[in-house]
Amino acid sequence: MDQKSINRWWPLALSSELDGSIPLARLCAGREYVLFRDGRGVARILEDQCAHRRAPLSLGRITPQGWLQCPYHGWCFEGKGGECKQIPNLGKGETIPGQYRVGHFVSAERNGMIFLWSGDPLEADESVLPDFSVSPAKKTAHSGGEGLCLITLPQQHFIATLLDGPSLVINASQVTVIDDHMLGEPLFSANHLLVERVADWTEKARRRRRVPSDYPLILRTTLHSETDMALLEWRDAATNTPLLSALVASMPVTDCVTAVRWQWSRHSLSNKQLSLVPHRAFERLQFAVNGTLDAAALTKLHPYVSSIRSGQLDTLAADIIPAARL
Ligand code: FES
Repeated sequence: MDQKSINRWWPLALSSELDGSIPLARLCAGREYVLFRDGRGVARILEDQCAHRRAPLSLGRITPQGWLQCPYHGWCFEGKGGECKQIPNLGKGETIPGQYRVGHFVSAERNGMIFLWSGDPLEADESVLPDFSVSPAKKTAHSGGEGLCLITLPQQHFIATLLDGPSLVINASQVTVIDDHMLGEPLFSANHLLVERVADWTEKARRRRRVPSDYPLILRTTLHSETDMALLEWRDAATNTPLLSALVASMPVTDCVTAVRWQWSRHSLSNKQLSLVPHRAFERLQFAVNGTLDAAALTKLHPYVSSIRSGQLDTLAADIIPAARL
């Protein structure tokens, strides 16, 4: 897959993964990148290959000036334009030729994620990034968190599964999503796809407190079309009160491996709102993406929402089944 010329943003890392002390190596669509924070704390992305003898810069270090120093002969590169700023053994009076630079990429940091722009730098537009937020400031150890995992599915098939059979790839503890019970048809707008499904508390949660409705919960999935980022919201069906929100971002590592990162946060409820939900189950509500897939269940998945999205029902169905058998 060559994504060099694709004009789009890719979520390369959670902000928390890049703490500024060391560079990070990332593989996106088969291409190697290095991320680091410069002297002002700005996340920068360079090609993970030194301009001198191609050593991986991700094995280097960040200098006090905020440059990335190669581990081999110590050349230093700045992050914005990839320019070589320092060569340790440069002779007296010698200057650094301007062409000594590494590949550099436009980056953006938004809502706890770091994005790479893989296309023409002049067309990079941060304003298209979704304003999805799960209020990380309110997170505590038990009411919010983050995670990442690798999934052996092509990235577009992961998105298709998230749309058609979310319970195969995500897990909110205490809650069961009814994959084949949608509330109406998916809604499409210029930048988003929205699909709602019914969901239920688990048997155990229901036993502890009688729940009035057959399907007391809704899972609302909003997929941002330009980044494939998904905002998942579990809501109380009777009051439309949001209980748990999760942001899921995926990136192709190779043609058949996808890196998925997520943030989640449980909402604060008033006493009145709390009285309407199984209290204990709500307090244990947590979110994660399933790193291990049920291949047999994937083969039975009916690609409905994803097929409408792509407009290629036959192609998608044919592709998903062999991929699930990998
Ligand atoms: S390979 Fe990087 S400085 Fe020589």
